[in-house]
Amino acid sequence: MARVLVTRALPGTALERLRALHTVDVWDGDLPPSPPVLRERTAQAEGLLTMLTDRVDAALLDAAPRLRVVANYAVGTDNVDRELCARRGVRVGVTPDVLTEATADLTFALILAAARNLVAGHEAVRSGGWRTWEPRGWLGHDVHGATLALIGPGRIGEAVARRATGFTMNVLRVGRDDDLHDALRQADVISLHCPLTPQTRQLIDAEALRHVKPTAVLVNTARGAVVDQVALTAALQEGRLAAAALDVTDPDPLPHDDPLLSAPNLLVLPHVGSATHTARARMADLAVENLLAGLDGHPLPHPATN
Ligand code: DGY
Repeated sequence: MARVLVTRALPGTALERLRALHTVDVWDGDLPPSPPVLRERTAQAEGLLTMLTDRVDAALLDAAPRLRVVANYAVGTDNVDRELCARRGVRVGVTPDVLTEATADLTFALILAAARNLVAGHEAVRSGGWRTWEPRGWLGHDVHGATLALIGPGRIGEAVARRATGFTMNVLRVGRDDDLHDALRQADVISLHCPLTPQTRQLIDAEALRHVKPTAVLVNTARGAVVDQVALTAALQEGRLAAAALDVTDPDPLPHDDPLLSAPNLLVLPHVGSATHTARARMADLAVENLLAGLDGHPLPHPATN
């Protein structure tokens, strides 16, 4: 029996399978454990099931000499120092595929909400600001037939592309070697799907935003730091971008007084791309499969790869 720390309570039944075989400590705070608490609780652990809110860095690895497996409850690993884990012989696993369709569904909800002004319309109705049917009221932009630029067309990007086909959208896939600025000039909808890496940090910066159409909408269901938020705030305030819909920000969540939150035509969600009952339960299954294999000394079934 190995010792495992799980840093948040998880949906579904996966933790029962883990408990049947190992000694499991589940952090039950309302917020993630602070770094010192995480270090203390991981000190004796051989397995660690982390959230994207936990940093797996040198300080944590130093404090956890017995650690052999980190099962990240996410497909992204920007919270994990993977290079250091590899050097220390700590295997890192992720939860791919099971959240792809749920995240693509949410991306499409954000595309539609941003392009068609759903939040402003909803707020007008709730506040009594809607008095009559308006020929010029709450006008948005067509989604059908629009050009969609998928920045980082991986699994989730492709799932968004499948949905876009049903809306007769013209899909541009923008990979590492493609001309980002050229795609931004053509796009009516820009949707971000790249992992956060040193190369993609602030990829959508002030210079990139100079190339977008003033009628375009930007959707981010990847990681907040892919966007320069100061530049985004300015683009929205100056009407150089029609709207932005963000499932992720940097930091996640933003402080209440962050200027971005007062920008016009902005919709922000609390990082819920994978938040369906099914996807989150399946993510727990995969994380537990990774832990069980790794603690048995086997290769992880869902290793971090990209
Ligand atoms: C991930 O998996 O990386 C998402 O951001 C959370 O589901």
